[in-house]
Amino acid sequence: MTSSVFNQITLESGLTLKNRLVKAAMEENMAAAMQLPSTELMRLYKTWADGGVGLIITGNVMIDHLAMTGPGGVALEQETDLTPFKSWASVAKSQHCKVVMQINHPGRQVFKKLGGKSLAPSNIPLNMGKHSHMFSQPKAMTEQDIADVIARFATTARLAEAAGFDGVEIHAAHGYLISQFLSPLSNQRNDQWGGSIENRARLLLSVVDAIKAVVSPHFSLSIKLNSADFQRGGFDVEDAQNVLTMLHGKHIDFVELSGGSYEAPAMQGKSADDRTLAREAYFLEFAEKLTKSSDIPIMVTGGIRRLPVAESVLATGVSLVGIASALATSPNLPNTWQDKPDIEGTIFNVNWQDKTLSGLAVMAMVKQQLRRLGQGKKTKLKPSATLALIKDQINAAKLTKRYRRQFKDELS
Ligand SMILES: Cc1cc2nc3c(=O)[nH]c(=O)nc-3n(C[C@H](O)[C@H](O)[C@H](O)COP(=O)(O)O)c2cc1C
Repeated sequence: MTSSVFNQITLESGLTLKNRLVKAAMEENMAAAMQLPSTELMRLYKTWADGGVGLIITGNVMIDHLAMTGPGGVALEQETDLTPFKSWASVAKSQHCKVVMQINHPGRQVFKKLGGKSLAPSNIPLNMGKHSHMFSQPKAMTEQDIADVIARFATTARLAEAAGFDGVEIHAAHGYLISQFLSPLSNQRNDQWGGSIENRARLLLSVVDAIKAVVSPHFSLSIKLNSADFQRGGFDVEDAQNVLTMLHGKHIDFVELSGGSYEAPAMQGKSADDRTLAREAYFLEFAEKLTKSSDIPIMVTGGIRRLPVAESVLATGVSLVGIASALATSPNLPNTWQDKPDIEGTIFNVNWQDKTLSGLAVMAMVKQQLRRLGQGKKTKLKPSATLALIKDQINAAKLTKRYRRQFKDELS
């Protein structure tokens, strides 16, 4: 009997996926000069498409080259040359795979070394304990800043469609700008953008409406949302439930559920409050609850690396299974599972005393595999955490230098 993960699905926009396995967004930090998609990036995406996933969600693409989550990120704006984006979409669509571009604004999660804009709902800095100094002090956004961000999301979505992507996913999770607006901890505004969940969700809803106004009806729109922030007093599952209700009737193809932020990295399976996360499929309990109360298809991402777990996720009524790390280590996992259902993907885990450094090391180990795949090399299933972190820091320093040089006239 073929596994339920290989059943196709047609989403509301008409987008048909050949199976339920989705490559979740991973920022690759592999952009070419001027933050454009590189040939290494194309090779990486071809590898994923050839590996058998039904849908690829790109690593987050920035809507403003002066507000970046990292120095090697891709940015897509009004003035950007679409040629490499067209090639990127085209290779990602090999083997009848579909491709959605994740679009994002970092808000206050901007490294000080990188510079650029650090915008936030309120002027509350990130609290990363002794690592807080790595991040810029954010500025509370004005109405004009907010209007600019909404317009930029719409522009990037329109250009993604023009380049041949099947859709966009709005990043509203992991403590980035839209997630900062959603959270009562980072959003302490008392105007129409803060306070009640209706007000905190206004930015997300405005971005949805602005995108819908400029793309065609068959262009897929999805959202990555935290099931919770996993911080006391933060955005919680009841808030997520309310947001899903507000999205009803907005023609959203799916909502991908994740959790956490830089301050509380639940997406790596670590909870910062007293709740425990499942050992595999971290957010499944939340997803089950939200699936029952929402008619929008749900995708759940985090901790999935085994086929029986993917099947049990679908058995709860969740529509799509998001896999990030395990597809960085084993990009061929979907094809492998067709005839070897017992094969397990690899997820890295580092348990140093310094939780922030551990998190950075895990990210570095995964990014090392992305780089290797981009260079046509095999992945390493047991890389050294320390070495990966050092190499990642060196690479980031180089890319930061390039970024600052490229945009020296615009960066403060
Ligand atoms: C190197 C790396 C980069 C990531 N970049 C993004 C990103 O750009 N956008 C996003 O929504 N999530 C990003 N994530 C989070 C993943 O999409 C996913 O939610 C998380 O890794 C948990 O899934 P997993 O256990 O399958 O890896 C990233 C994760 C890793 C490891």
